[in-house]
Amino acid sequence: MAVLERLRPDHAPALLAFERENRAYFAARVPDRGDAYFEEFDARLRELIEAQEAGEIHFHVLVAEGGEIVGRVNLVEVDADAGSAELGYRLAEKATGRGLATRGVREVCRLAVEEYGLSRLTAVVTVGNDASSAVLARAGFGAVGGMTLDGEPCTAYELDLTTVRGLSGGSGSDRP
Ligand SMILES: CC(C)(COP(=O)(O)OP(=O)(O)OC[C@H]1O[C@@H](n2cnc3c(N)ncnc32)[C@H](O)[C@@H]1OP(=O)(O)O)[C@@H](O)C(=O)NCCC(=O)NCCS
Repeated sequence: MAVLERLRPDHAPALLAFERENRAYFAARVPDRGDAYFEEFDARLRELIEAQEAGEIHFHVLVAEGGEIVGRVNLVEVDADAGSAELGYRLAEKATGRGLATRGVREVCRLAVEEYGLSRLTAVVTVGNDASSAVLARAGFGAVGGMTLDGEPCTAYELDLTTVRGLSGGSGSDRP
């Protein structure tokens, strides 16, 4: 079973393989990363790790047996004062349809509360990406409005982490 790990420098080769192998699958659903992303992968990863150490982002990978990366679940635009961040995720095509994205998102919601001190997550999904909308709905997100991103109609979602049962640290938790 894949385990969620915080992104580290030594994930680099497996992460690049994941992005390369699934590039066409992702590009059919979300904007393509572009050739420069792959050419400058190592330098960009170093910048991400620095931003992560500064608390600006929190990146996670889903690691299968043997070290293969089969997904990523990321928090960007972290605003420590507002207690908010934006959620993004993508799964290897071969790992989809088994609830793995839902499990990864739920785990990152728990980390958002317990480790990162956040109280609200946002996400944006292109209209028609029903698998992604289903993941958010099952994690407790609600649609809060429409918008256009890169010319595509999208739906904005939000999750108030303080109201999600089973996540510690929130006023909605029954735990002491
Ligand atoms: C979106 C994505 C992360 C879903 O991953 P996943 O591991 O298959 O997700 P899960 O198995 O946890 O849940 C998917 C749910 O959507 C449903 N689903 C899948 N395809 C669907 C479709 N075309 N229409 C409606 N529902 C669909 C599945 O049946 C499942 O629900 P169920 O378990 O109740 O049946 C994956 O498809 C992906 O990486 N897509 C490309 C990148 C992307 O779109 N990222 C999100 C950007 S907002």
